[in-house]
Amino acid sequence: PLPPPFRVPLPIPAVLAPAGTSGGADRYEIVQRETTLEILPGVRTRAWTYGGTLPGPTIEARRGRPITVTHRNDLPVPTVVHLHGGRTPADSDGYPTDLVLPEGWTEPTMGHGSGHGMGNMRDPHAVLSRRTRDYTFPMDQRPTLLWYHDHRMDFTAPAIWRGLAGLQIVRDDAEEALGLPSGSRELPLMIADRAFTAEGELAYPALDPTLRERPGVLEPYLAGVLGDVILVNGAPWPVHEVDAARHRLRILNASNARHYELEAVLDDGRRLDLVQIGADQGLLAAPVVHRLLPIAPAERYDVVVDFSAVPVGGLVRIVNRLGSGRTRDVMAFRVARAAADDSRVPRVLSADLPGWRRADAVRVRDFSFRAGQLDHGRGWLIGGLPFDPARSDVTVGLGDVEVWRMVADVHHPVHLHLVGFRVLSRNGRPPLPHDAGLKDTVSLRPGEAVEIITRFDGYRGRFLFHCHNAEHEDMAMMANLQVV
Ligand code: C2O
Ligand code: CU
Repeated sequence: PLPPPFRVPLPIPAVLAPAGTSGGADRYEIVQRETTLEILPGVRTRAWTYGGTLPGPTIEARRGRPITVTHRNDLPVPTVVHLHGGRTPADSDGYPTDLVLPEGWTEPTMGHGSGHGMGNMRDPHAVLSRRTRDYTFPMDQRPTLLWYHDHRMDFTAPAIWRGLAGLQIVRDDAEEALGLPSGSRELPLMIADRAFTAEGELAYPALDPTLRERPGVLEPYLAGVLGDVILVNGAPWPVHEVDAARHRLRILNASNARHYELEAVLDDGRRLDLVQIGADQGLLAAPVVHRLLPIAPAERYDVVVDFSAVPVGGLVRIVNRLGSGRTRDVMAFRVARAAADDSRVPRVLSADLPGWRRADAVRVRDFSFRAGQLDHGRGWLIGGLPFDPARSDVTVGLGDVEVWRMVADVHHPVHLHLVGFRVLSRNGRPPLPHDAGLKDTVSLRPGEAVEIITRFDGYRGRFLFHCHNAEHEDMAMMANLQVV
């Protein structure tokens, strides 16, 4: 029994308190465990969680203040934690074979990926740790909304689907001095679609529902798994009461494969401006006003919406123009009361955006993102190749600026670990308004050629780039990025 839209209150994920502090670094602890949640009202659903909630607890970090997160794996399968958008050294970046093993795990830790031709990968660099693992994040990066999620080889999509995702926010003094809406007027919104069985369990078309050995999904789902229930912060089509004032919405599309085009629609059909102030990797140089905001899997948009023109009692629906039927609704805001508002959206938001130009690039690389044949079935390839941890794909020099030209067959949201990038062009034309700022995920639309530019700074080591349609990622659309 699905609830009617806009009845369930919007949950705000709890902020995790540090377990301790030493040497200017905060230490957190998260236990990954199965639990039963009430996602649909009156229905019990088993989920895999970070710390017992969906989403997991939010970690609040300060720029330049390192944190360590100790993860303990009480789930029945190996896990890997990746901080998406983190500028993280390779040994804490959650490489897909750097597994945290559950108690009593006896399977060979490599080679269970045979279903998609990634099977006989032998990864000489694999790091296996039992039960617990410390991930260290320097947080030496622009303030923004990050998210942490599972990244296990071949099984990322179903693990995220079962609940392994949480938020991490980086802040600094400069951003806080801008006077943007804050406190209860700053809302993280993790949007994710899910499907449920008649019994109320999460439905995922895995070939091996234990997620222990055989990766992959049933043939009809090769393009990606969609759900017919839209969750925001883990609640179906929620509603949130707001003051008639500006609110900062920090939107993440944590869906495996669903794209959205969001708009904020009033009772009378009018649409509110979505004033974009930030992208995946932090504040824009200046605000960009949208009426319609496309958001691909793993992208984040930092948006200010002003509810002051909405009559008290009015409902503002957040609608997905790409949805149909009940997937058209996402959530709603009920304007509950008039209120004073001393927040502002400055004309200049940040002055530290990298302005790399084509002439700065020491190299231009070409990549295709296309469907193709794996050893044991269809899958997804970068440059004609399936992911192989043992192969070296791209080697870049630390500090080098490069232009990457990427072409797509169908929709592929492409994500680079370690760095933020700028979008240079789409099909030879200037980028779109929502490409502004510093990004870590760019939506390649069907048939499109997109150019990005970045500087590979931060840390040497082995990182990744991949499609963030999570099913495409599991079916081999991933490659190694070696920074030397
Ligand atoms: Cu959000 Cu490599 O991932
Ligand atoms: Cu893809």
